Amino acid sequence: MAENERSGLDYAPGRNGASPTPIKDEAPTQTTAPPLPQPGGARYAQIVGWGYHVPSKVITNHDLEQIVDTSDEWIRTRTGIEERRVAADPNETTASLAAAAARKALDVADVHPSKVDLIICSTSSPEYIFPATASVVQDAIGAVNAGAFDLSAACSGFVYGLAMARGHILAGDAEYVLVIGAETLSRIVDWTDRNTCVLFGDGAGAVLVAASDVPGGIMATELGSDGSGADMLIVPAGGSAHPASLETVSNGSHFIKMEGKAVFRFAVRVMAEATTKALSRAGLTTDDVDLVIPHQANLRIVQNSVLRQLKIPEDRVFVNLQRYGNTSTASIPIALCEAIEAKKVKPGDNLVFVGFGGGLTWAACAVKWGVPTAAPEVGWWRSTRRQAGYQAAAARSMWRRAVRWMYDVWPADPEEAAAEDNETPKPEPTKQVSGSRNN
Ligand code: COA
Repeated sequence: MAENERSGLDYAPGRNGASPTPIKDEAPTQTTAPPLPQPGGARYAQIVGWGYHVPSKVITNHDLEQIVDTSDEWIRTRTGIEERRVAADPNETTASLAAAAARKALDVADVHPSKVDLIICSTSSPEYIFPATASVVQDAIGAVNAGAFDLSAACSGFVYGLAMARGHILAGDAEYVLVIGAETLSRIVDWTDRNTCVLFGDGAGAVLVAASDVPGGIMATELGSDGSGADMLIVPAGGSAHPASLETVSNGSHFIKMEGKAVFRFAVRVMAEATTKALSRAGLTTDDVDLVIPHQANLRIVQNSVLRQLKIPEDRVFVNLQRYGNTSTASIPIALCEAIEAKKVKPGDNLVFVGFGGGLTWAACAVKWGVPTAAPEVGWWRSTRRQAGYQAAAARSMWRRAVRWMYDVWPADPEEAAAEDNETPKPEPTKQVSGSRNN
């Protein structure tokens, strides 16, 4: 490391805008975002907050044996999956899971929602075709100064989102970007199709990416797509190609369709390639990697790509798909949070996130971790204030809706109404056609 460079270990977390303070020997107890960089100084995009949320309903392989012609043994040996979470409560939606994960990420970073500049929500099971799920989340968490948009890159979407966040931050357009991966795939899975319903699960994970002067963070990304394989993993209907109709609903084309074997072969190939490219862009090799967090689709895909092709040892690869199944774009951020809980991530570590999915798409990024991961100690006062803040966001949203409703029903200002009346062209009286048969 060059002499004038500082590692992520050199600074303790501080309040936004405060000067960096040398790190002490003992582990810090409060995890907060490091100071924002000075204007004109070097900028890096550091992950400073993280959180995940999964529905409480667990569906085991044995439960699935009751629904389709499958077995616990088949699912375990072919995929590694043992159980998955399903949004059984109709109030659990992609946006509600995403908002819960986002709140946790903001809490860990100790950053107020009003400081967020941009919310990127990656999802393949959005709340609606439009508006964006990200906008629903923006309202729910009270991120009143944030732009918001959804990102559609299937299971690679979270890493695509990190690439977008990094770009915005390095360009100086944003200081804080929330990147969320959220899915309720159980709502678009055909529960009579054993080829797909055993694979997927619901959940959400979020990270807060912040501008920082601490070198490292999201160092390099590799994004790819091969649209010639679009029909290998697809929800055929409900978009403009095949809008919803009685026919599309009755033939089940609003559900996920997949050519499992072809997707498997594609995944094994691109996972290794994308990882190697992202690492080489960051000036690293596989020997420098402390932890790989792959997309959690299938244990055999991870074994055949990251472990065998890249020869990265098992203890440096994090896998939690046994308990969640494939949560698509949410799988990497959920796994990241669990890796942190398991104390597998520490400042200065080189991490790789790598995913693949519908599109076809693939994505990898190399991250030098920059902040402590000790669980934050939150006092009752701070915790109460946070909760109050989220309740205020809900109240603000209701107030805005109420004001709009009043504008709709309230009698208009008489002068304005008269002016509108004069501007509105009067409909021409229907001309009677002389000589018509009716006359
Ligand atoms: N339970 C029991 N049997 C099943 C089954 C299930 N849930 N699903 C398929 N089978 C059967 C098949 O019908 C087939 O039977 P047959 O030989 O009589 O025709 C047999 O099991 C083998 O199927 P096959 O497709 O060869 O299994 P596989 O080893 O390729 O595993 C997948 C299937 C789906 C697990 C695997 O191909 C896969 O993981 N692909 C990638 C999917 C993925 O990751 N998608 C998400 C991308 S983000």
